[in-house]
Amino acid sequence: MNVLIINGSARAKGNSELLCDAFMRGAAEAGHQLKKVSLRDREIGPCRACYACFKTGRCVQQDDMEEILDQLQAADAVVLASPTYFLTMSGQMKTFIDRLLPRWQDLGGKDVYVIVTGHDMKEGLTRTADDLKAIFEGLGNTVRGIVWGEGVWQKGEVLATRAMDEAYQMGRSV
Ligand SMILES: Cc1cc2nc3c(=O)[nH]c(=O)nc-3n(C[C@H](O)[C@H](O)[C@H](O)COP(=O)(O)O)c2cc1C
Repeated sequence: MNVLIINGSARAKGNSELLCDAFMRGAAEAGHQLKKVSLRDREIGPCRACYACFKTGRCVQQDDMEEILDQLQAADAVVLASPTYFLTMSGQMKTFIDRLLPRWQDLGGKDVYVIVTGHDMKEGLTRTADDLKAIFEGLGNTVRGIVWGEGVWQKGEVLATRAMDEAYQMGRSV
């Protein structure tokens, strides 16, 4: 399968990225094709709600989103990883999601895996996971699993938690 990993964390080598990499190790061992997109490295402007894309199928903004949309459309499975920022997903992840608008009717039929991180325990990260799940299910996808990177704040803290193995095993199960 063609697996696309979208990392919505602002920090390189942060807890979200470490969990993405563990998932990728598992999925690579299971023989899948993998590509990771770190939103922090990409230029993605916020949706302007001009609705030009409803007429043309394309965004008026010429940035990195068109390429990511092509990769997303080609993927059989998608991993969405986000830290929790003020109770929900990161702004980077939400900006990316709003920019799905030009192709929102063509992004279904995929297996989706969600990775969430935060210094709170699971109850505090539920909104982040629920929002990502609801949005991608609304697009016609099936959420197959959620990795809870709970109780982690500083970079690398997740390495000492069981979430690392859960991410690896989830990758293997794709
Ligand atoms: C702006 C901001 C807001 C945050 N808000 C929350 C929060 O509401 N709940 C929580 O559990 N953690 C919160 N955190 C902590 C991060 O979710 C946590 O450090 C996470 O590991 C960051 O992911 P990263 O290591 O991939 O960067 C916040 C961090 C930042 C920078």
